[in-house]
Amino acid sequence: MEISVTLNTNPKAKPQDETALGFGKIFTDHMFLMNYNPQQGWHDARIVPFGDISLSPASTVLHYGAEIFEGMKAYRRKDGEIQFFRPQENFRRMNNSADRMCLPKLDEEFCLKALKKLVNIDKDWVPHTQGASLYIRPFLFGNDPFLGVHTVSNCIFCIILSPSGAYYKEGINPVKIMIETQDVRAVRGGTGYAKCGGNYAASMRAGEKAEQKGYAQVLWLDGVERKYVEEVGSMNVMFKISGTVVTPKLTGSVLPGITRMSCIALLKSWGVPVEERLISVEELAKAVKDGTLEEAWGTGTAAVVSPMGELNVDGVSYVVNGGKIGALTQKLYDELTGIQWGVKPDTFGWIEPLN
Ligand code: COI
Repeated sequence: MEISVTLNTNPKAKPQDETALGFGKIFTDHMFLMNYNPQQGWHDARIVPFGDISLSPASTVLHYGAEIFEGMKAYRRKDGEIQFFRPQENFRRMNNSADRMCLPKLDEEFCLKALKKLVNIDKDWVPHTQGASLYIRPFLFGNDPFLGVHTVSNCIFCIILSPSGAYYKEGINPVKIMIETQDVRAVRGGTGYAKCGGNYAASMRAGEKAEQKGYAQVLWLDGVERKYVEEVGSMNVMFKISGTVVTPKLTGSVLPGITRMSCIALLKSWGVPVEERLISVEELAKAVKDGTLEEAWGTGTAAVVSPMGELNVDGVSYVVNGGKIGALTQKLYDELTGIQWGVKPDTFGWIEPLN
């Protein structure tokens, strides 16, 4: 499929201070769009000026949340070249999410081609400053002007780009986490493993409550027994307990994170024992209390590796690793960001160059 290009004749000024970008607030001059219907399949692939999308007030996405998305990044290396980190994995996961949400599948190779074309057009927007990158948000939604609850016929796929800095204002500094005992994020058989907007919408009440109490994120428990730890905020979670890294296994209610799988591969390559298994909040509380919980961190595209400095269990706050980032958390962060920015060798073949 050809991709038509309409260039923006009124480009915006680029941000002056790349250290103050924040996350997801500024958008580039162009976006990629294509449409789907059962007769034509995906069609009308186009790069157009970034702007509002007009929808029927009856559009499926507005009523029933038929939407999935991805989060990925483009990085500018020291030599000025631009690269992506495992973008094929994002499009693969997007198709798994599409399957769960009954949305049409994408041609993964074509999506990567479209992404590269878009980033090439907006390449001057890829930040030059250390720690900042171009956050990429592909998303797909159902757009039938019909209020019946039914699988959709018309869909829109879009990619927007946002030069961004750290996801948390704390950056790589440890954040305070509260275990959420009331709301749950997902249940097995539900949509937990899919990256759909509704999962995030349903997480906001707990996030808000935690914030009001001075915590940055919540630690989610499983939705059935409320006994096992699943994710932290919008990230996967890892704990170093007595020298072993333990992370919740992918039971269906946990998002299969690309940063998660990359961290597991790195840890194993360093000879660090990794266990993907159920972790009860009781086990975690015991480890926090008896000091065998050596480090704890979240993993995700937006925040990369985010250390936890404090964990609130049953209303009591426990400090993890003296409230400081642990050595292994730091090593993972350095290695991953080193590979992503092309400062460290890409021995796993994770890097995809722009050109
Ligand atoms: C990401 O890490 O890219 C995510 O999807 C988290 C996001 C909801 C900000």
